[in-house]
Amino acid sequence: MSVSAHAPVPPHAPAPAPAPAPAPAAHSRPAPDAGPESGLDSGPGAAARPRGGGPTAAELLDFARRTASDPDVVDRLPLDPEGRTWIRLDGPGGSEAWLIGWPPGTGTGWHDHAESRGAFATARGRLVEHSLAVRLPSEGWHRLELAPGHDRSRAVQAGTGRAFGEHHVHEVLNASDREHAVSVHAYYPPLPQIRRYSRNGLVLTLEHVERPADWQ
Ligand SMILES: [Fe+2]
Repeated sequence: MSVSAHAPVPPHAPAPAPAPAPAPAAHSRPAPDAGPESGLDSGPGAAARPRGGGPTAAELLDFARRTASDPDVVDRLPLDPEGRTWIRLDGPGGSEAWLIGWPPGTGTGWHDHAESRGAFATARGRLVEHSLAVRLPSEGWHRLELAPGHDRSRAVQAGTGRAFGEHHVHEVLNASDREHAVSVHAYYPPLPQIRRYSRNGLVLTLEHVERPADWQ
């Protein structure tokens, strides 16, 4: 079991949290997302049995929710008010899974998960997800101006979760100024890479690409 607040960064919670993106992707923009209340996206890849096998996004979400509701797992995570902590978990069907603690004000910044689908569920506190409801070209661009109207935001309260298909672009943060959050994340296939973006209004810029060696 690896637990650290300072070792290589888990894929879903890079350090340090970047500055909040300016509008319209700002962090206090709750709005209903396209997905149903189950937290399962209606987009491609979220629910269908994948051609390449492995757990569906719905199955990853089920794992994340069940694990997030298990105090025997969640309570193993040491919490550090100064930084994130994490434990790598055994996800279902060969998926990659993490238990992550988020001090107040920390977040991931904008990123995607390449061809992996995934899910996360909040065990403690409350996370906020900002996402794009549009599929972006996965390659061949460095800076992209989004058309208005594709930003979505949702709160993921303790006991709830969220699933997504491949090429999902989002940021996740603990917007609380005093309450720690803990969450469970699962991805399949195990993340081949993560593309990280900066955001200035509607302009998304690819900053760098992380590989598994960066967070193992
Ligand atoms: Fe993510």
